[in-house]
Amino acid sequence: MAVDDADDGFHEVIALDDLRAEGRTLTAIDGTPIAVFHHEDEVRAVNNRCPHMGFPLTEGSVEEGVLTCHWHHARFELSCGDTFDPWADDVDTYPVEVRDGTVYVAPEPRRSEPPAAHWRTRLDDGLEQNLRLVLAKSAVGLLDNGVDSTEVVGRGVRFGVRNRADGWSSGLTILVALANRLPDLDDDDRKRALYQGLTEVAGDCAGEPPKFDQEAFDATGTSFDRLLSWFRENVEVRDADGAERVLRTAVAAGYGPEELTELLVTAATDHRYLDTGHAFDFVNKATEALDLVGWDDDERTADVLASLVRGLATAERAEESSSWRQPIDLAAMCDERFDRLDAMVADGEGETWTEPADFTERLLADDPETVFDALEEAIRAGASVEDLASAVSFAAVTRVARFATSNEFADWNTVHHTFTFANAVERAAERTDATALYRGVVDAAVNVYLDRFLNTPPAPTPTGDPDADPETALEELRLAFEQQGQVEQAASAVADFLAADGDPERLKAALGNALLVEDTNFHTFQAYEAACRQADRRDDNAERRTCLVAAARYMAAHYPTRRSREQTFSIAARLLRGERVDGADGGTAADGASVAETDG
Ligand code: FES
Repeated sequence: MAVDDADDGFHEVIALDDLRAEGRTLTAIDGTPIAVFHHEDEVRAVNNRCPHMGFPLTEGSVEEGVLTCHWHHARFELSCGDTFDPWADDVDTYPVEVRDGTVYVAPEPRRSEPPAAHWRTRLDDGLEQNLRLVLAKSAVGLLDNGVDSTEVVGRGVRFGVRNRADGWSSGLTILVALANRLPDLDDDDRKRALYQGLTEVAGDCAGEPPKFDQEAFDATGTSFDRLLSWFRENVEVRDADGAERVLRTAVAAGYGPEELTELLVTAATDHRYLDTGHAFDFVNKATEALDLVGWDDDERTADVLASLVRGLATAERAEESSSWRQPIDLAAMCDERFDRLDAMVADGEGETWTEPADFTERLLADDPETVFDALEEAIRAGASVEDLASAVSFAAVTRVARFATSNEFADWNTVHHTFTFANAVERAAERTDATALYRGVVDAAVNVYLDRFLNTPPAPTPTGDPDADPETALEELRLAFEQQGQVEQAASAVADFLAADGDPERLKAALGNALLVEDTNFHTFQAYEAACRQADRRDDNAERRTCLVAAARYMAAHYPTRRSREQTFSIAARLLRGERVDGADGGTAADGASVAETDG
């Protein structure tokens, strides 16, 4: 133990002769565990906690100026603490003086970077090198040090769109979806959400070539209609480079969220249901990312939106698939209605549409003409894209809530794709009233029709027990996620909770926690976000229940998982709380086990 007798910040630690004989010693100064080494006639002091996972560095090896931790063999340049292994982080070093044969150490680290700055750097390192533990530590470290989650999301988005030639990815979609739901989550789950999203972004970019930009045209003053036409033509012929130049020109010309969204969603609906809805969903998520971080930076806006172009240009078009052509030519039915879309919209101008009581059932009909007629009548009666997308979203989430578990497991994704696509169309309609977007509504409705056999027989739709105990229902929901195949148990737990006047906010938080402790896949993240969004938008209790039952059923079908990501997160959180994670017992301040961590 160091003697606290210094006025200049240095503390007496050990006689130099003793240190020379022993090679190393461990001390604690002001609660900081410090390993002091005598090596090659020099005295060096470093934090005793390995910045990787906290193993005591006094138990490491020192050779030729390199300190090696014995747990995962991270190596540190002993004099400055810099690591040879970026996954481990640099270790703090401390000033040392030898006075009259006695070693003194000052506990202020030589490198005293503010914690938030440190974790920003480590976040970038974790993204660049796809380091899961570093990303977990960064998410915890940044939020614990008061950094706004929007900044963290923004760094992830900027990295993701710059470092993947193929552009916007599922990882970026997950990051933005989780960012949208942060208000539902408790403090620890917000950290988990950022960690999970950032991990997905880093994984998507790992080993991928970076994105190289196409420039905006030098020409100025090109009309929006001309830019829109050029953009559609380039996407039509699958010329991603040409489309990117047009898109960047539109950004440079100062067009805002409404026009830029119109540009993208029009091209995204020129063909049917691109890439089973993912292309449109990515468009929506990219614009939501800009809603979060701001549309005010033209360079960032252009980079984010340009990341969508390759996906739009290369997407599979549903009219090329047999299910849209046989036994009924649904693509041709769409074209026939689209030919009179302008006339339908003109008829509805000035009208206020009220959703008929049987509208959902008509959208769920077994006959496509019934579905097309319901939509056309609604448009002619003044229904907006947002009105219809909301109605179709509810029909689609009903398909998920009624999905029969006797189907092939993969078909969960079929109903899921329809739902998240419809939800994305509705979200996009909040940003633009482009007539072209009605085509997205029709695409979603056609898929609701195509998914009809996946509700045969329909799964039971629990209404819940009003006498249930909400706490018991939440516990039953948690238990349903602990065993495979507890789909109906999860549905019943949600219904009971809501019927017993449980707070929907608590239910969303509980679902969010379940989502974030599992090795959740892309679709399940999407399902949770879309269902919670739809639940938030509905005043009707039965509709809200359907949305949350759908989320719980989908999640229960996919859980439990190995939870390896949660293990990493737990390690990071414990390390930053100063807890020991190496499994050794009896940690003390001096061995580095129970001292609050300020380093990597
Ligand atoms: S290398 Fe030191 S704890 Fe992992």
